[in-house]
Amino acid sequence: MNKQEKYTSLLPQVQAVMDSKADIIANMANMAAMLHETFGFWWTGFYRVINGELVLGPFQGPLACTRIAYGRGVCGTAWKERRTAVVPDVEQFPGHIACSAASRSEIVVPVIRDGEVTAVLDIDSVHLDTFDQTDAEFLNRMVELL
Ligand code: SME
Repeated sequence: MNKQEKYTSLLPQVQAVMDSKADIIANMANMAAMLHETFGFWWTGFYRVINGELVLGPFQGPLACTRIAYGRGVCGTAWKERRTAVVPDVEQFPGHIACSAASRSEIVVPVIRDGEVTAVLDIDSVHLDTFDQTDAEFLNRMVELL
């Protein structure tokens, strides 16, 4: 299966396990797990906006930094600019926060609720140039399920 086919098959599966009554942490945890397993990413997880900063949420992969300030790193930039950040080479991104030296490329998708960024979905790859417009489109549709 190519990337598009994987996302197309994954979306309804994720939708099926999302429960509007479930805790947001429960839904984020399952979404991170399903993405991580399907694509074999290096790190897949969420940071939530809490008291004006991003705080580490449910994730799969190696340990990560726990807090990120507004406008800092790829995550803080996606939050500030309120749009998806696709970074083909993290070494070329000024201010990239290296939680892991193995990470080479990254995508960050803001989760927007009632016009406010409430969290970001962050995915890291050990390969350069992993993410493109296909990932951006499908991941935006996916976080709308939260
Ligand atoms: N690289 C991110 C920090 C989070 S870790 O990759 C999990 C950033 O620059 O915001």
